Amino acid sequence: MRGVFVVFEGGDGTGKSTQARLLADWLNASGREAVLTHEPGEGEVGRRIRELLLDPATGDLSPRAEALLYCADRAQHVDTMIRPALERGAVVVCDRYVDSTLAYQGAGRVLDLDELEPLVWWAAGRLRPDLTVLLDLAPHAGLATIAERDRLEAADDAFHERTRDGFLDLAAREPERYLVLPAREPVTVVQEAVRHRLAPLLSGEGHDAEIGRRNLWSALFDPEAPLSVPPGTMKP
Ligand code: TYD
Repeated sequence: MRGVFVVFEGGDGTGKSTQARLLADWLNASGREAVLTHEPGEGEVGRRIRELLLDPATGDLSPRAEALLYCADRAQHVDTMIRPALERGAVVVCDRYVDSTLAYQGAGRVLDLDELEPLVWWAAGRLRPDLTVLLDLAPHAGLATIAERDRLEAADDAFHERTRDGFLDLAAREPERYLVLPAREPVTVVQEAVRHRLAPLLSGEGHDAEIGRRNLWSALFDPEAPLSVPPGTMKP
């Protein structure tokens, strides 16, 4: 039996961690094993890599070195935690994954995506999420909620704008595997939309093609919105 792999992505301060925790708690309460995890920093190796990556004392890292460190953290995470949990049938709820490297290091640090993508998927052992929930928010709104910024959060506004666009581009490329939600909606509304979208995957029915095309966001929040989510659609 293979479990279900759900990832939450988005900028800093978008409420990913809250949504991931609510989802995992709900799954566990309803009798389905859920493993809540995050990147970077799971396990002892992850903890050390995370420290290097996020401590402002690290100073400037070469963008390629930064990308490789996130990839190293993920390789360890996939092999020691995510894949074993999926193999025993659990639902893995992960706060950040491959798309964060493509958006932050690819779009944000401006690394060539054609070079970065194969490397990132190699490091992840080609393990693809069944569903990626992207919580979209204007960077200034998300970052305003953060009191003490880590090395990445301290990057300039243009970096965070490129990162946001990077996430939206990834979602637009593969709408059936993404759920894009406006992070400024109330926590309960966002959570409800996630559970609704996940239901067919939990019951083993796979993706609902129609819901995938509509991306649900448009169905729930703006019935007049176009059926796909082109980059930048949700910007205020
Ligand atoms: P974290 O404190 O976990 O932030 P958040 O709570 O917003 O997820 O720090 C993770 C930081 O690392 C965050 O700023 C995003 C960044 N990051 C990357 O740049 N690339 C990656 O591949 C990942 C996983 C995270």
